[in-house]
Amino acid sequence: MMLCDAILRRTVLSFPFFRVCWHAHPSILRIMSSANSPCLTGDTPTNLTTSDNCSPGFFCPNNDGDHPPQYCPPTKQCQARRLLMIKNICPEPQGLYEPHICAPGYYCPLGGRQKLQCPKGHFCPTGSERPRLCSGIHICPAGSSKQMPITGLTIVVLIDVLILLFILFPWLPTRVKRHMKLPLHVKDAIICTPLSRKRSSQRNSEILETYDGLQKFVESSKRGIGTDAARIQIEFEKLGFTLKGKQGMVNEVLKDVTGSASPGSLLAVMGASGAGKSTFVKVLTGKARATSGITSINGTPTSMTTKLIGYVPQDDIVLPELTVRENILHSALIRLPKGWTRREIEEHVDTLIHCLDLSHVENSLVGDVINPVLSGGQRKRVSIGIELAAAPMMLILDEPTSGLDATSALSIIKLLKSLSDLGVNVICIIHQPRREIFLSLDRVLLLAGGRQIYLGNTKDSVSYFRDLGYSISDECNPADAIIDIVSGDTQRYASPLLPQHEPHSIHSLADIWKGHEGGERASTQNATIQNTRQKFQTDALAAAAAQRGAPQIRQIFYCLLRAWTQQSRQKVGFILEIVVGAISGLMIGLAVYQLDGLLFQGVYLSPFELLSSSTNYTLVSELGLLNSLAIGLAAAAPGVKTFGEEKTLYWRETASGHSRSAYFIGKILSTFFRIGLSSLHFTVFYALLATPIMPFGQLYLSHLLYFYCIYGLACAVSMVVSRKDGPLLAMIVSLIIGIFGGYGPSLSTVKSWHLEWIWRMCPGVSLSQHSVSTYLLGTRPGFLKRTFTPM
Ligand SMILES: Nc1ncnc2c1ncn2[C@@H]1O[C@H](COP(=O)(O)OP(=O)(O)O)[C@@H](O)[C@H]1O
Ligand SMILES: [Mg+2]
Repeated sequence: MMLCDAILRRTVLSFPFFRVCWHAHPSILRIMSSANSPCLTGDTPTNLTTSDNCSPGFFCPNNDGDHPPQYCPPTKQCQARRLLMIKNICPEPQGLYEPHICAPGYYCPLGGRQKLQCPKGHFCPTGSERPRLCSGIHICPAGSSKQMPITGLTIVVLIDVLILLFILFPWLPTRVKRHMKLPLHVKDAIICTPLSRKRSSQRNSEILETYDGLQKFVESSKRGIGTDAARIQIEFEKLGFTLKGKQGMVNEVLKDVTGSASPGSLLAVMGASGAGKSTFVKVLTGKARATSGITSINGTPTSMTTKLIGYVPQDDIVLPELTVRENILHSALIRLPKGWTRREIEEHVDTLIHCLDLSHVENSLVGDVINPVLSGGQRKRVSIGIELAAAPMMLILDEPTSGLDATSALSIIKLLKSLSDLGVNVICIIHQPRREIFLSLDRVLLLAGGRQIYLGNTKDSVSYFRDLGYSISDECNPADAIIDIVSGDTQRYASPLLPQHEPHSIHSLADIWKGHEGGERASTQNATIQNTRQKFQTDALAAAAAQRGAPQIRQIFYCLLRAWTQQSRQKVGFILEIVVGAISGLMIGLAVYQLDGLLFQGVYLSPFELLSSSTNYTLVSELGLLNSLAIGLAAAAPGVKTFGEEKTLYWRETASGHSRSAYFIGKILSTFFRIGLSSLHFTVFYALLATPIMPFGQLYLSHLLYFYCIYGLACAVSMVVSRKDGPLLAMIVSLIIGIFGGYGPSLSTVKSWHLEWIWRMCPGVSLSQHSVSTYLLGTRPGFLKRTFTPM
């Protein structure tokens, strides 16, 4: 300082440089001693401009009209630093008249005569012309070169504490649940005593006979089904289903099945395993396309009126995360006629639950085969309940009694019989019914090897086989005897009347039915069908269908509520999703942490470009790529899970008239919270470590949108591939989308291939471009807005 003072007084007082001498770097003093050159190295400087203009973001204390900004060849140390990829700004001026970039933590107001420390609550990255306000809650002491926004972190901590509270203190959600539960007066309205509360020895068919809950449910269903005009009569003629195997092998799974199923009757489809029973109902309901034959409803060849038909599949397709009641109630809320009030629907559902003997487990989760909560039989009854709750006009059930104990099986059949008495057309596949069940069936369709062996009244079936020469005693279970006969196990039933004492083959039994009795019966049936065609009006059916189902907006609401309930019970998956988001953000943040907030450095604006340090053109677009990949990994798997896990349920519901769009909108809305939280955790940790210049809100929004895109993409992938392949495929698709973000190959390259449109379709391009434009072009106008074109 003393030397500086002496020089000031003795020699070059005219130099404006001396106004800042006391603040300048000590090396300036060495410049003073190099008598002939204003450069530190003693080399000849190059004039950058003829005026004394200082570019924004630069510090030019010594320049004036006589001494325009100059470039000085740098010293070895400075040159070495300028060639580094990070922290490569040489803070020492290399010459008396050389402008230098405003250092981090300082700002240099326009004109470049002052270099001021960044005030508290602001941050000043390298090349700042004015201090920037730190956003939200922050840590920005005086002299900050970057902002440390902790708004996001504060929000995240608060949310995480709340989530932990909900998990650690389960009574919180229980209280909420209590609000959703049935009001007390509705429970009181059910008069019948649940079967479970009765002693098991009493649980026999006599109790079922007097079980007034059944009557109550039937009464309730009557309102939904209606009693008059609309009925469903289904006719099928020569129905066939053929599969083509390897080397042109043809497998006739179903052949020439003809007949009808009428409203008010309970038709049982019987046969041994592999007889074609499930295939028959699938073809009948249009779930499998018949390769031959015609199906018609009320005399008109048409597809099924899905809203009026209930189909209970062989496998129990229920939501394991919901309770028994929630599963059944959802179906009722969506599918019952519009006029029903919430209270009426709840009463109807409760009566049904009692009739299905599920009241003691109504608030238990259904579970699945891997995590069982209910028994297989109880789950089956839930599956049946889902259809019965909708009061269908036609009900098709694939083995509803399999897996149930004898009493429960009988109670189910009695329920079905009561519904058929109301005018419901019930078709039910039964594997091997016990005697009481068999005798309570109205009609039987017997299949063997895909061929029709018999279709007619149950009571006539035994005499039909007796007429063929089989001996069926009155003591034995006729159902067992008939199944044995059509399966070829005829030894016990052979009688002297049997032609040549040889049992019939399936083909001969089918031919006998077709040619002899069958032909006659078929023509009788056809006559009946002709009569009923006048009777059952399709218009009435259409009107009944139009009344069915909650309005679209309510369906969306119910689907949303259901999805929320589901998610709230998948705690581990939910927490994992958030943790994965946080870890991904943390990792990417760590990858750029060493850059100390200097995410990209370009070439200085003209005319100061000569002063530029080495540039890393690839860094920002590479960061876009890294972000895309990390988000792809964090969001793809949960996206697949959202839909892929319940594809079968979706098919079941939409096949029975649920609105597809309501399901999807409900699902999508329900995932917003998850996506929002996961991307918030990603952004918070990323922002803390990478300290980007972009405002936190903007950064969050760009990440949120990309998360959302990947979620949607994974969801779409899970729809078209099988459940086990979904995660892998979604992962690879999100990787491709990430790479197609414009980094490698770059947009300028693909433009020359005329394939830019493919890249533009990928959301990664938008994410990268947003990063680039905000990091570089939008926020640092004086410093870096120059020749850089990363993509
Ligand atoms: N999509 C299919 N691919 C191959 N075989 C099938 C298909 N559908 C049915 N089958 C075969 O057709 C036969 C009848 O099946 P199914 O109708 O399920 O019998 P079940 O009477 O036991 O319900 C079985 O042998 C089954 O293997
Ligand atoms: Mg089957």
